[in-house]
Parts: sequence; structure tokens; C-alpha cells
Amino acid sequence: MTDLSDHYGTADAVARVREHLEDSQLERLAALDQFHVGGAAATRRLAERCGFTKGAAILDVGSGLGGPARLLATEFGGDVTGIDLTPEFGVIAQALSAHVGCRDVTRFCAADALDLPFADGTFDVVWTEHVAMNIGARDVLYRELGRVVRTGGRMALYDVVAGPAREPLTYPVPWAREAGQSHLVDADALRWIVAAAGWDEISVTDESAAALEWLETARPPGGGGPSLRDVMGPDFPEMIANLRANFAAGRLGAVQAVFEKPS
Ligand SMILES: C[S@@+](CC[C@H](N)C(=O)[O-])C[C@H]1O[C@@H](n2cnc3c(N)ncnc32)[C@H](O)[C@@H]1O
Repeated sequence: MTDLSDHYGTADAVARVREHLEDSQLERLAALDQFHVGGAAATRRLAERCGFTKGAAILDVGSGLGGPARLLATEFGGDVTGIDLTPEFGVIAQALSAHVGCRDVTRFCAADALDLPFADGTFDVVWTEHVAMNIGARDVLYRELGRVVRTGGRMALYDVVAGPAREPLTYPVPWAREAGQSHLVDADALRWIVAAAGWDEISVTDESAAALEWLETARPPGGGGPSLRDVMGPDFPEMIANLRANFAAGRLGAVQAVFEKPS
């Protein structure tokens, strides 16, 4: 796998985020901690589609800075464990959770989605938003997620996928500064790979139009709170501009999908 440590985990990211922590509250963190197209609203849509019950044990795979985990805990009653390949992100996620009173319902550690440090059947739900684009071994990923969820448990995915244009992307984009870091499949291939890994499909929703609309209209919340630019560096605006252009040209699409582990 291409090394992602220089892409996501810049050494001073923790310090830059801590500078903002003093006066930040949960709702002001969305420009920082919902690291996917569509922000908190997209996470809510996926939670409603997934339909888990209060107290569900959720594994957020590639939890980033922890925004989805905190939203699933505070708005939907989940008990959320986050893992991420980028250790700095786990440190920031843990600090943000402590800062906004989510320490008891969220926890974060460094781990690889392809080799999870959990026993078989540990979770009711496995959750992943905007992570699989970095993972070439999709068959391994979806089997590993299936291993750690209980029989009858669910998998909720929100992914950027290859769009109908079949053209090379313009880089950098938020998950990759060059093509070797990006591993996109189209929506049909995604469904096929997930089914082959043993999952039953519950729903697949095309989010491409919603994603483009959000990219064309969303403005970061004001007030000088922390943002993903603090973490990703000065080329983050260029990544977002390229993301928008790639969506507009049909080079990218977006999908939310829910699957169940059959008995
Ligand atoms: C675009 S961010 C999304 C973060 C979070 N899911 C969200 O929506 O706010 C992608 C994340 O995937 C993580 N990631 C990439 N490959 C991974 C892997 N093999 N195992 C675990 N995390 C991974 C990165 O470190 C990064 O935090």
C-alpha cells in the first residue's frame, strides 16, 4: 500500500488543533472533524439509513478526527470505537472528545482497517465514511469488517466512487496528493465486491448530486474555529477545488450503502 503518513499525519497537526480547543464547542467543530463531503448532515443521513438501536456498539473504521463518532454517540445513542491508520488523528479525536464531554461514549486508537485488533463478532455496526478510497484491497477490507461484526449486524458505507466520465482525476484531492494513493471503484463494482465478501445488500443510495451541491454551496462555519486546513496544510483549498471540479466533470460520484451480515 502507498504510504499515507505524509499525506494525512503532518507532525504539527496536533499542536495546530490544540491552539483552537479552548473556545470550541461540538457544533463549531464540523469544519474540522467531519472529514467528508456533505459534513454532519451526510453522517446523519447514513445513520438514519443504517437504523441501529440506542446503545449499539459501533466501530468507526478510519475515524479521522472523530466527528462522525461523536455525532453517532450524541445524536443516535451509539457507543463508538474509532480506529485510524494516522496516529495523530486518534490523538486529536481523543482530545476533542474529552473537550466536548464525549469521553465515555467514544474512544479512539491507531489501527489498520485491514487487520483490526478486535475479536470476531465484537460490534453491532461497522461504519466507514470516505476511507475506502485509500484502500486497494477492498476484498480484504470488507471481509475484515465482516469478521468483527456480529451475525445480523450492519455495515454502513459512505464512499467517493469513480464517476461515469472514466477520466483521470485532477490531483491533489482530499484523500490523495497523487494517483498512487487513490483506489476508486465505481458504484456497481463496489456492490459486487461487498456482496462477494459475504454481505447482504439493504440499501444503496446515489449521493452524487447532493455531494456536488454541497461542494458548490457549503461555506465553512464562521467564528475562527479550527478547520481541516489546520490539519491538512495550505494545499487543502486546492484539494477541495479539485474535488468540486472532478465531481462536476463526472469523474467522481458518491454512494451511501447499508449491508447486513447474514446468518
Ligand atoms: C478523508 S478521512 C475521513 C475521516 C472520517 N471517516 C470522517 O469522515 O470524518 C480518511 C481517513 O481514513 C484513514 N485511513 C486511510 N486508510 C486507512 C486504513 N487502511 N486503516 C484505517 N484508517 C485508514 C486516514 O488516516 C484518514 O483519517
